[in-house]
Amino acid sequence: MEETTERIEKPVSSEAPGMDLKSTRGAFMSNLELPRKGSVQQWLFDRSEVFEPIFNYIGKKVVPQHRHSIWYYFGGLTLFFFIIQIVTGLLLLLYYKPTEAEAFSSFVYIQKVVPYGWLIRQIHAWSANLMVLMAFIHMFSTFFMKAYRKPRELMWVSGFVLLLLTLGFGFTGYLLPWNNLAFYATQIGTEVPKAAPGGALIVELLRGGADVTGETLTRMFSLHVVLLPGITMLLLSAHLMLMQIFGTSIPIGYKEKGLVKGYEPFFPNFLMKDFIGWMIGFALLIYLAIAVPWEIGIQADPLSPPDANIKPEWYFWAQFQLLKDLKFPGGELLAIILFTIGGVVWLLVPFIDRQAAREEKSPVFTIFGLLVLAFLIIESYRVYLDYGFH
Ligand code: HEM
Repeated sequence: MEETTERIEKPVSSEAPGMDLKSTRGAFMSNLELPRKGSVQQWLFDRSEVFEPIFNYIGKKVVPQHRHSIWYYFGGLTLFFFIIQIVTGLLLLLYYKPTEAEAFSSFVYIQKVVPYGWLIRQIHAWSANLMVLMAFIHMFSTFFMKAYRKPRELMWVSGFVLLLLTLGFGFTGYLLPWNNLAFYATQIGTEVPKAAPGGALIVELLRGGADVTGETLTRMFSLHVVLLPGITMLLLSAHLMLMQIFGTSIPIGYKEKGLVKGYEPFFPNFLMKDFIGWMIGFALLIYLAIAVPWEIGIQADPLSPPDANIKPEWYFWAQFQLLKDLKFPGGELLAIILFTIGGVVWLLVPFIDRQAAREEKSPVFTIFGLLVLAFLIIESYRVYLDYGFH
């Protein structure tokens, strides 16, 4: 391969979407000093042509700038906390033992003996919560910006399943420390499907028997560290691939009204800004992990329920409150039906909202979204009033 001796030509750039940077790698490299001949940098630089097609592909994407551009950061933040989960989860796996006899003691060992084990566990617990929060903000922001409309329907569908998977991570991970509160909360949580026809089978499959036991722990563990991460990574790749193919959406009417101030290249400009967002998220995460640690609790004991009121994690509070509201014969089944219908309608929004698909405003759907959001916030707040946060 010919050695590079000159500075790479500046690329052609344009302001319009789909701008054609001749070489994004070139654009990036042209701002750097040329490596010395024969140096390691020179060697790497010459071979970096391998990545040329990737750089060029990524370089096609531009991000529109307008007064709501801030919301474009939340998908990336969700991704950031997911990456943190993978890294810290792998570290926890070095010491965690997923058996009834050893789960709690290995968990205490990580917290108290393993150097920085406490920090890794606290980061894992807080990052899980932040990931769920970011995923909710990302979902509602894409909803209100109608980013689900044609041609991004599958982005919405894949995103919705990603949210369910994220909640699945929370649910299965909760039992792993094998402490008493988690044990009884899982007992109640896994009981819910029983009210639905065929639900008893689901309960038995989840628990690995009639009750929550060591079998349940093994099942939750394998779901948490094998099945859910595998499916999530596949689906996430599809979600991000679709993002690359379709590019970032613009709210309805913004282009026509001249509300789009310009476009900036995703790589490296927007990615660098994403990075600043990630660093702010990381600072918040470290602060929470150190200043507001999650409890260890006491080992699970099937014979002594905890004194504290048992409630699920905050992201299941709305469902929990609805179940409490409908405490009459058949109420549980009604709650399950309502949530299933609500979930299916939410999933199908891109296909139902025909106005948005025609690039027309669809206020009915905006109101629908506001009602769903109000329902989730009010119901969750009611749980907070009754039980507090912890
Ligand atoms: C694990 C969870 C998720 C991750 C890591 C993720 C990641 C991303 C990223 C990085 C983007 C591009 C940047 C942005 O526009 O924010 C994006 C876009 C998008 N996501 Fe997600 N997402 C997740 C969940 C969801 C959910 C729950 C939904 C909705 C149900 C969703 C729907 C969308 C849509 C419609 C876009 C296109 C936005 C646009 O073009 O303006 N995603 N996602």
